[in-house]
Amino acid sequence: MSPPRADGFVHLEDYAPPAWRIPHAELAFDLEREATVVEATLRLEPDPGQPGHAVVLDGEELELLDIEADGAPLPADRWDYDGRHLRIDGFASAFTLRTRARIRPADNTRLEGLYTSGPLLLTQCEAEGFRRITFFADRPDVMPTWRIVLRADRAAFPVLLANGNPAGTRELDGGRHEATWENPHPTPCYLFAIAAGQLRRVTHTLRTAEGREVELNVWAQGDDVVRCHYALGAVERALRWDEQRFGRCYDLEVFNVVAAQDFTMGAMENKGLNIFNARYILADEESATDEDFLAIESVVAHEYLHNWSGNRVTLRDWFQLSLKEGLTVFRDTEFSADLHSRALKRIEVVRLLRARQFAEDAGALAHAVRPDRYREISNFYTLTIYEKGAEVVRVLQALVGEEAFRAGMDRYFADNDGRAATIEDFLAAHAAASGSDLSDFARWYAQAGTPELWITADYDEASGDYTLQVDQHTPPTPGQAHKEALPMPLRFVLFAPDGGVIDAAPETDAPALPGGGVALTQATHVLRWRGLRARPLPAFNQGFAAPVKLRFEYDAADLAALARFESDPFNRWDLLQRLASGALLHTLDPEQATVALGDALGALLDDDAADPAFVAECLALPDFDTLAEACDVVDVDELVARRESLLDRLAEEHVERLQRRYESLAAAAGDGLTAPAMAARALRNACLAWLTRLDPEATLAQAQFATATTMTARLGALRCLVHFEAPGAAAALAEFRTRWAADPLVTDKWIACLASRPHPDTLDDIGELLASSWWLPTNPNRVRAVVGTFSRANPLGFHRRDGAGYRFVAAQVEKLDGINPQVAARLLGAFETWRKLAEPLRHQARLALASLQGRLHSGDTRDLLQRLLD
Ligand code: ARG
Ligand code: ZN
Repeated sequence: MSPPRADGFVHLEDYAPPAWRIPHAELAFDLEREATVVEATLRLEPDPGQPGHAVVLDGEELELLDIEADGAPLPADRWDYDGRHLRIDGFASAFTLRTRARIRPADNTRLEGLYTSGPLLLTQCEAEGFRRITFFADRPDVMPTWRIVLRADRAAFPVLLANGNPAGTRELDGGRHEATWENPHPTPCYLFAIAAGQLRRVTHTLRTAEGREVELNVWAQGDDVVRCHYALGAVERALRWDEQRFGRCYDLEVFNVVAAQDFTMGAMENKGLNIFNARYILADEESATDEDFLAIESVVAHEYLHNWSGNRVTLRDWFQLSLKEGLTVFRDTEFSADLHSRALKRIEVVRLLRARQFAEDAGALAHAVRPDRYREISNFYTLTIYEKGAEVVRVLQALVGEEAFRAGMDRYFADNDGRAATIEDFLAAHAAASGSDLSDFARWYAQAGTPELWITADYDEASGDYTLQVDQHTPPTPGQAHKEALPMPLRFVLFAPDGGVIDAAPETDAPALPGGGVALTQATHVLRWRGLRARPLPAFNQGFAAPVKLRFEYDAADLAALARFESDPFNRWDLLQRLASGALLHTLDPEQATVALGDALGALLDDDAADPAFVAECLALPDFDTLAEACDVVDVDELVARRESLLDRLAEEHVERLQRRYESLAAAAGDGLTAPAMAARALRNACLAWLTRLDPEATLAQAQFATATTMTARLGALRCLVHFEAPGAAAALAEFRTRWAADPLVTDKWIACLASRPHPDTLDDIGELLASSWWLPTNPNRVRAVVGTFSRANPLGFHRRDGAGYRFVAAQVEKLDGINPQVAARLLGAFETWRKLAEPLRHQARLALASLQGRLHSGDTRDLLQRLLD
């Protein structure tokens, strides 16, 4: 990859292939917490196409001890290390470089490179952490095979893991031992990993569809190992699913997964050695909620599935990040949908898109799925790269059809195996396999902003002709004023006034799609039906086939009728969400919308045949972020107040129904991770939250807390008690805190519960927390539980009118910037839509951000601050 230009940005169009390749790398580590010595032996070969370049390797915070070429010390005038790059001159042909460098894991609070987590030594290299371990061409298109030797004290580090296959162990003098690993697959250094320490495992051996025997291991510290079984099962499910659904097999003798309490992100797909944030591994029903279990399964699958979409086929450069992340989110989402409920998974994904990705795409940090420049790549691990990227793959599948899509995936893997690929390679494989021209489709990767479809209807009473005009429009985003139309599916159903489906296909220039509906290929299309007996009622975008905002002039009665007629479960949920948004944002007649929503929810609560998990989703009204995203100017207090009063009114209207469902599901909601038990718990918790609004004594919540046998029930009750400031809240919190004091993941749960209490005073509780021993600023999970929850899930606290919430978060960003810049930068994201805030908040937010100018030191936070203020 090319260096940044004078403007401080790395640009996509500057890409040049590496002038030197590294076909093979051997690393030997003398592991110690305080000082580890890394010896790297690299085979370097010039690209015959670009002769005459010096060798330039990345290296950060490395203490260079020795440097040799082809076995002889390299004279000082042949190399230079300026603290960022090691430059070696005078070589025109292949040679072997050996460096020895010292690094300091125990001082590494950034958690990038080699670091300590409790007694463990661990690595995180993506995106550019490997340069903090040794001198190397730290770019994804340099892909050696690897031999890794680990040496350490046997008592402190009995388990020594690295990428690839185990290739022998031996005892050394002085109580030390050694393990060797070999990774035969060409692998970029961002996928390098080691893990060392007193790890215990759960293990399972299986045979892949290709006949390879594979040992699956999930490792954790001490007693945590008993909470690894669920994750181990998830690995096996993911492995089998990729065999069946995508024809992809695992390709090493072992697959190791390690749980770490200190980890900046969710998890990492290092070749053969995935390293996870412990929160996405450790679970049992005592300590983990049903949501935790589902999240664990999906993250385990995500990282496993990267073995093909990311590792076997990797990235040419970091601009292509969504090529692995968007595609792998698409794959893990399909995995979860196949294993559980497709409709519920779709609802979960769309909630996240609407609450967070749409806001990102409309705010100061908006960027394309493939950005064309960046200052700091760590700031591009975003909802747009991941979730919108996955939606773009889904759109592609809808346009070419499922069969052609699968053929395109086969072709992509076959053509690019062992290569560092681009989004063009991905589209070329799909274009070839489907025979479609995808040149317009490529705009999805280049253009930021959420597309809107404005649909207008016209019905001619005399002729019975009905037309729908579909206009596509994407609002401008920073640096992208002009937008072009994007090809996408339009799914629709016309209902007759009695609810019957009108089967006739429209006359239109929009091409028909394999799975139903049409493809929108132009900015405007017209669909026309002739001779309909009455004005029909149209429903659109079944299954959220296109990731758009859809505008159509419905009134509340239309939406209520459609919610009864529609057979697509996603849309039935979505129509109720629209009714609620319309009632809250006054885009519908609020009274009519509230009555219609109340009726629909009443009918759902009465319907014992409906999936309780689905009913629970319908009871969960659009959250604050989703509502705010739909406003041009956000009046926080007004929005929260309207939402609360709608909830109060609906709860009162349905109090008996809520009580009946809460009680009737008691038996079904016992233990066990079966779908019916989880669904029963979800609906019971939803009913409990509504009922607790009406009961100042919070009798049910207190009883549920006292008798809970699962974390789902216990935490559901605790949330009600704390958030409604009910009697018993303090006692319940104290009991919970004491019982789980030794468990950092469960401790994060009560802390998040406290930090999200919807009240401006919550900031005082947070002040107390920060002064207590619960505050661990070097632990990313704890920082997220406290500051992340407060800024992202507590609108009344964060958006306090006096600006104290903003000042608090800004002050934390400054402090954390010196500890872990990626964690600090993430927190700044809470300000991404500050310009939409109504005064005085907008002014307060600007002051808090401006106060950080000149006080931030990392590239991560400085980049974000500048983009927020530009
Ligand atoms: N590739 C990891 C995943 O599966 C995430 C790595 C994030 N790294 C970072 N520096 N932001 O999603
Ligand atoms: Zn990923």
